[in-house]
Amino acid sequence: MDHFRLIDGVLHAEDVPLPAIADAVGTPVYVYSRATLERHAQVFKEALDGLDNPLVAFAVKSNPNLAVLKVLQRQGFGADVVSGGELMRALAAGMAPEDIVFSGVGKTRAELELGLDKQIGQFNIESREEGQELAALAASRGEVAQAVLRVNPDVDAKTHEKISTGKAENKFGVPLMRARETYAELAELPGMNLRGVAIHIGSQLLDLEPLEVAFAKIGQLVADLRAAGHSITHVDLGGGLGVPYHAGENPPSPAEYGMMVERATRGWDVRLTFEPGRVICGNAGVLLTRVIRVKRSSNQAPFVVVDAAMNDLARPAMYGAWHDFDAVEPRGEKMTAHIVGPICETGDTFAMNREIDAVATGDLAVFRSAGAYGATMASSYNSRGFVAEVMVDGDKWAVVADRIAASAIMDAERVPDWL
Ligand code: LLP
Repeated sequence: MDHFRLIDGVLHAEDVPLPAIADAVGTPVYVYSRATLERHAQVFKEALDGLDNPLVAFAVKSNPNLAVLKVLQRQGFGADVVSGGELMRALAAGMAPEDIVFSGVGKTRAELELGLDKQIGQFNIESREEGQELAALAASRGEVAQAVLRVNPDVDAKTHEKISTGKAENKFGVPLMRARETYAELAELPGMNLRGVAIHIGSQLLDLEPLEVAFAKIGQLVADLRAAGHSITHVDLGGGLGVPYHAGENPPSPAEYGMMVERATRGWDVRLTFEPGRVICGNAGVLLTRVIRVKRSSNQAPFVVVDAAMNDLARPAMYGAWHDFDAVEPRGEKMTAHIVGPICETGDTFAMNREIDAVATGDLAVFRSAGAYGATMASSYNSRGFVAEVMVDGDKWAVVADRIAASAIMDAERVPDWL
């Protein structure tokens, strides 16, 4: 459920008509709904009601906007971060250092140091080598890093190959076959308190079965590690729950996910961490865009050229992802069209032969479900600058990220005097 709906024929975000935002801020612009974010956060927390004090660490990568993080911090969320930049954002949003987990296969030494400096709650170690480096670093500072070992369970998450992370050929975690020996080796090291394991098998999961298979493997691993004398107090189950991008797509609900987790983890006797991203923020945002022109040529469907492009919303170009496209003031007529952006490559296509609300030059429209992996994946390709972001709360709204003009990006460039 989200809070983007037609009121008197005009699409609103909560109580704010989208044309008001377009007039004031220009387009393209991401618009987030605070009420939707809060609702999703609450539904997720309720789904985990049966668990003992779980930590919900929002996957910052899915939407790192400070205002979004602040909303979730107020919901009691921590953060799952994958870079020093994300770590600084989580702290800036007021998230407690102990509620921050640091994932990622390529944490640099500087990033490990930053995590120690900020006394974050947990490092999710992705390799033997990383574990050794962290332990040595912490020991040299006279500190003990809290850590879990990320395991690659070799489970097919049945999602897009570019966002699958738990198969043996993916770069993430330590292979399950190796997990026991790697764990034993790292648990010995001074400077690190290895206290459990982590997994994350992929994103936009539409089926709970692969997750349940992976959790069963982790349950067995926890038992084996305990049998080998290790004290296991923490397990991080990652994120991955999918959202509906179009009618007919029925991902499992958070409640169904929660029930499965309870069943799969019964008797583990650990503190569980969750790293949801998309399920919290995906449907809490739209990308508001204006039709530049409708280009009719030959006898095929017309091209609806909008002012948003693949640099603003990369998912269709990158994964062939579907985002519903709706007119802000629909006239009740439909048309079949290709929806494209202005960028000079054919990949800058949002949809082909899509039945959409009929639109004309100058009309406003939205790409829906753009709150996750939207603005955060933006680039300035074709020297287009970075898109602005707005948050709505009831009948008020605010710009929560300024548009960064192409000229500002150019200002950061230098031509050396020897040219
Ligand atoms: N934890 C870890 C370690 C992750 O790698 C990810 C996502 C998450 C949590 C959050 O997953 P979520 O709950 O959002 O599914 N750019 C792609 C998605 C990449 C996901 C990467 N990892 C997209 O636009 O679909």
